[in-house]
Amino acid sequence: MTDSRSHPDHPIESILFVCLGNICRSPLAEGVLRHRARERGLEGELRIDSAGTGSWHVGNPPDPRSAEVAARHGIRLESRARQVAPGDAEAFDLILAMDRSNLRDLADLLDAGGGRGRQAEVRLFRDYDPEADSPADVPDPYYGAGDGFEVVQAMVERTCEAILDEVERRRG
Ligand code: 4NP
Repeated sequence: MTDSRSHPDHPIESILFVCLGNICRSPLAEGVLRHRARERGLEGELRIDSAGTGSWHVGNPPDPRSAEVAARHGIRLESRARQVAPGDAEAFDLILAMDRSNLRDLADLLDAGGGRGRQAEVRLFRDYDPEADSPADVPDPYYGAGDGFEVVQAMVERTCEAILDEVERRRG
């Protein structure tokens, strides 16, 4: 059997957020989680990253609309887009997909790694959203109006708090 990190008490020391382009939703989640982890004194305990299932935006900074909404909440986004790599399954404890389409695409991208070592727990980001009926997506705001980014920000904020609660619970 493949060694798994999906046991409900396995410590969470590394988290990868995944969306389609890695310029809107997952960089926001990365920035918010890092900021809130710092506030809780957990910064040194957690490795946080984000990636996209697609490669169109590799090397690019976050979408200015994500950067603006984060800045309004006192958070700077500093990531550069990268595509999910096959080795990510072994490099992270927890991989969180922003929507169900990302989750399906992730399965293929990660399978390419061969899966010999300890495999990340891979699930939907909003599985941790206290206001979500599971399974729920973070809507893609890329083609929509600007207020889509505020909707995403609110979802990301409350879900990241719940993720940090879980990180703390598993640390014991
Ligand atoms: P993200 O949003 O997946 O939240 O980063 C998107 C960014 C770019 C594209 C689609 C979604 N795109 O088609 O280029």
